[in-house]
Amino acid sequence: MRLSITLVTLVSYYAVSVSAAPSCTVTAAGAGKDDAPALLAAVQACPTTIIPVGTTLNISTRLDMTGLSNKEIKLQGTIRFNPNIPYWSGNGFSYPFQTQVTFWQLGGTNLHIDGGGTLDGAGQAWYDAFKKNGSLLRPILLTVYKAKTVVIENIKMVNPPEWFNFVNEGTDITYNNLNLSAVSTNSNPAKNTDGWDIYRSDTVKITNCNINNGDDCVAFKPNATNIFVNNLLCNGSHGISVGSLGQYKGVYDIVQNVVASNIRISNAENGARVKAWAGQNVGSGLVKNVTFSGFTQTNNANPVIIDQCYETSASACTQYPSNVYISGVSFNGMSGTASKTTVASILCSPDNRCSGVAVNNFNLIPPAKKGAAKYACQNVALTGNAASLFGTCATT
Ligand SMILES: *[C@@H]1O[C@H](CO)[C@@H](O)[C@H](O)[C@H]1NC(C)=O
Ligand SMILES: *[C@@H]1O[C@H](CO)[C@@H](O)[C@H](O)[C@H]1NC(C)=O
Ligand SMILES: *[C@@H]1O[C@H](CO)[C@@H](O)[C@H](O)[C@H]1NC(C)=O
Ligand SMILES: *[C@@H]1O[C@H](CO)[C@@H](O)[C@H](O)[C@H]1NC(C)=O
Ligand SMILES: *[C@@H]1O[C@H](CO)[C@@H](O)[C@H](O)[C@H]1NC(C)=O
Ligand SMILES: *[C@@H]1O[C@H](CO)[C@@H](O)[C@H](O)[C@H]1NC(C)=O
Repeated sequence: MRLSITLVTLVSYYAVSVSAAPSCTVTAAGAGKDDAPALLAAVQACPTTIIPVGTTLNISTRLDMTGLSNKEIKLQGTIRFNPNIPYWSGNGFSYPFQTQVTFWQLGGTNLHIDGGGTLDGAGQAWYDAFKKNGSLLRPILLTVYKAKTVVIENIKMVNPPEWFNFVNEGTDITYNNLNLSAVSTNSNPAKNTDGWDIYRSDTVKITNCNINNGDDCVAFKPNATNIFVNNLLCNGSHGISVGSLGQYKGVYDIVQNVVASNIRISNAENGARVKAWAGQNVGSGLVKNVTFSGFTQTNNANPVIIDQCYETSASACTQYPSNVYISGVSFNGMSGTASKTTVASILCSPDNRCSGVAVNNFNLIPPAKKGAAKYACQNVALTGNAASLFGTCATT
């Protein structure tokens, strides 16, 4: 219990000398022990908490760090979440949106995580378990929840059981210089390892990050507004995605004022994408003022895609077109190689549900020996200097 003694000392020090900036250092309690209580106590007690180089904290119980103010966590070592699957299945923090759960909930005002260390989700045990149980709830590595002015920078995140980052009901949240990697060591894939999902949040920046994962690199989920994404290197992902939107009946989803620029993206299912549901018993919404610009693509299946019939049968889309309206979406400076002949596909629902879609400076090349590039479009009047590549779009 060396740590608690240190804490008491620092707390009393703080009481006598408020001008100083005391810090708590948390080291591992030792094999078989849970370091979550010590980490929580330190963050509560001290403005700055240091996890030193060489320390791996074993987090075996959930981390509720909401309602904090003016805190810094210097993660120089490692925080690793013990993969006790039965524990987490019943004890992760849960959110109704897409039935998500998380290990760690961080919220409050003026929070800063940095330090060059690693957040480790110990995902392999989860990838293996998920292969056997497809309904297993797998925790998100880090959820920023009900927070204002948060900076998370200069750390690595590895092998989350599910998403890396969930931004839920936040304002002014910045992620900078992060390296994210989810890699399975066997044939069980690291599924649903989205880099970021942004939900009900405003003013979010994601800059200068490397992501190697198995689902969306960044996803702008319902009510993500004023989002700035710049200089990402995404590998193996499902793309930079708006949506999916309009999934839930009676719910109105907005994604507005988004810029994603200077993106190098390889081996992905999609490059720049907008996806919205159609059909009966789904929701509605609006996508407005979204710019994808400067995407250098390598070996991506759908480098540019709008799909207003996401996860819906063609007949249901005809009968019940998407009620997510799309206006003001630009794809500017799309270059590199596709893995299929159709390099761009902008497939909108009928009756002007897509408007103001611009395509500029396209230089997308299909795979070698597969013939000329094809461009698909329907129910949209494209503008911009690449519009002629698409020819006349069919109306349905
Ligand atoms: C982490 O803590 C749990 C619970 O105390 C324990 O069962 C497990 O062995 C610990 N893991 C390590 C690597 O110390
Ligand atoms: C699969 O995971 C779900 C959700 O975590 C759980 O309720 C269920 O009992 C698990 N099924 C099996 C066969 O373990
Ligand atoms: C991320 O990876 C890049 C390239 O390997 C490296 O230069 C950078 O220092 C890494 N950043 C962190 C926070 O680990
Ligand atoms: C990039 O992703 C591909 C496909 O998932 C994978 O095979 C490859 O190892 C990844 N490259 C790096 C540098 O991680
Ligand atoms: C999104 O914001 C609008 C306008 O404030 C609101 O009506 C709608 O319920 C919100 N949707 C979600 C999913 O939070
Ligand atoms: C479009 O979104 C960008 C990025 O948030 C913003 O800078 C710009 O002002 C928005 N344009 C309009 C017309 O709202």
